[in-house]
Amino acid sequence: MPQTRRDFLKQVGIAGGAGVMLQSMGALGLSPAAAADRPPFTPPKPDDLRGRGTKSVVILGAGIAGLTAAYELGKAGYRCTVLEARDRPGGRSWTIRKGTKETDLAGNTQTAGFSAGQYMNAGPGRLPQHHLTVDYCRELGVELETFVNANAEGYLYRVGNHGLSGQPVRHRAAKADTFGYISELLAKATDQGALDTYLSASDKDALIALLRSVGSIGPKVAGDPAASYRYTGGGRRGYEVEPGVTAGTPLPPYALSDVLASGIGQYFSFELGWDQAMQMLQPVGGMDQIAYAFERAIGRGKIRYGTEVVAYRNTSQGVEVDYRTNGGQRTVDADFLVCALPPHIAAKITSNLPAEVVTALRSATVTNAGKIGIEYGRRWWELDHGIYGGITNANNELGNMWYPSSGFHGKRGVMIGYYNTGASANTYGALTPQQRLVKALEQGAQIHGPAYTRDVRAAFSTDWATNRYSEGAWVGWRSRTDGNYDRLLAPTGNIYFAGDHMSYTIAWQHGAIVSARAVVESLHQRVTAA
Ligand code: ALA
Repeated sequence: MPQTRRDFLKQVGIAGGAGVMLQSMGALGLSPAAAADRPPFTPPKPDDLRGRGTKSVVILGAGIAGLTAAYELGKAGYRCTVLEARDRPGGRSWTIRKGTKETDLAGNTQTAGFSAGQYMNAGPGRLPQHHLTVDYCRELGVELETFVNANAEGYLYRVGNHGLSGQPVRHRAAKADTFGYISELLAKATDQGALDTYLSASDKDALIALLRSVGSIGPKVAGDPAASYRYTGGGRRGYEVEPGVTAGTPLPPYALSDVLASGIGQYFSFELGWDQAMQMLQPVGGMDQIAYAFERAIGRGKIRYGTEVVAYRNTSQGVEVDYRTNGGQRTVDADFLVCALPPHIAAKITSNLPAEVVTALRSATVTNAGKIGIEYGRRWWELDHGIYGGITNANNELGNMWYPSSGFHGKRGVMIGYYNTGASANTYGALTPQQRLVKALEQGAQIHGPAYTRDVRAAFSTDWATNRYSEGAWVGWRSRTDGNYDRLLAPTGNIYFAGDHMSYTIAWQHGAIVSARAVVESLHQRVTAA
């Protein structure tokens, strides 16, 4: 097992204490704030294969896992052939532009009528800074820009039995009120001795100082516990009249019980997430720039597009794959196979995998997701709402609405009118593309007003459940300990399984990369140990 930087530092820390550890970090060229260890990976090198002959690998699927495997194995001298049913690389990492044509499994055909330069990312749309995807963008020369994943000007829209129902609430107001009221209540409880079991006198002072700052609450009022530490709103939540040469008029806070009953505060756990916290990134010009950069690096000729796998099997020598092309059915053989197809698809294709492996593939639970991209001839979200990128989140079937993170002040723009999952995605997915647009405009106008239905130039919607070759947005596991996941982590004969589902970062390209690299390492160790 290679020793990670963290292992090393932990040992130094145990032996010498924190001071010595910080010095050692300096000697390693790290500051205490240096990036965490990535999942370890030793890329295979051409030298490793010297004198061993050329090994061949057939890879099923040119999604991010398949592409990563082909790229890393290819760099070391493996002869890779990627079979891809679609006519493009990337799999779910798919960018829709003018002319993109797609027929789904329900028979709906759409051709994107977006203007030149406009696009929507139908699958992944954002990259956390710490993901390996960003490292590959650096290595492959994919230009990145900011993806705005949180915007104080965006809205939270909650329908329910409370005073904020059906009223778009600015993200900044929701946050200020949530933090304000929590701070007031906690400061009162602390001051009145309710937490004395847990806090020393100096802890109480420090906590109250923290709450006064975080919550923007008032001071203690001597002899009046109810009037102490009151949250009364303020400028951070937004203004009725903004400050100019005279003081502004802040908007009054929402009532405490409405803030609680609406659940708006719960949204903020999203942007605290390990994978969702700003700063976030996106490739300039569309997420598929990553897949096309991989394709260039691998060599276009190594990827056979339009090839649908009909059967795959272990043989005594290696592996064989039967596939269909325009020209009929063919068979390719190789020493190894990396199956980077969605598990529920891999399970359906004829193979000689043992029954328990097919059962393991089938045990993945499939989640649906959908998006609609709506191109507007007027960037009304910037002009009328002052919103430059970011998200509005609704508790109706829209789920999330994304304002474009680039092209500010341009003539037109594509906004994601809904990005939903589960039942909401199924509801929208069951409609025709035209019906989806009508419903999305109607629901979106409830939040943004009538401008939402005007200046619409084009739209394109995706429903991953009915997307040919994906049949779902991503998968989960009922259990990671029932044997199924582990069964697929190990090769079956000469067949390896890769994909984001074979990682703890499901539904991220990072997960696909982590998994592909683990497969590459395991396959290479086997070859070099032979
Ligand atoms: N990783 C996906 C997202 O960020 C699920 O929406």
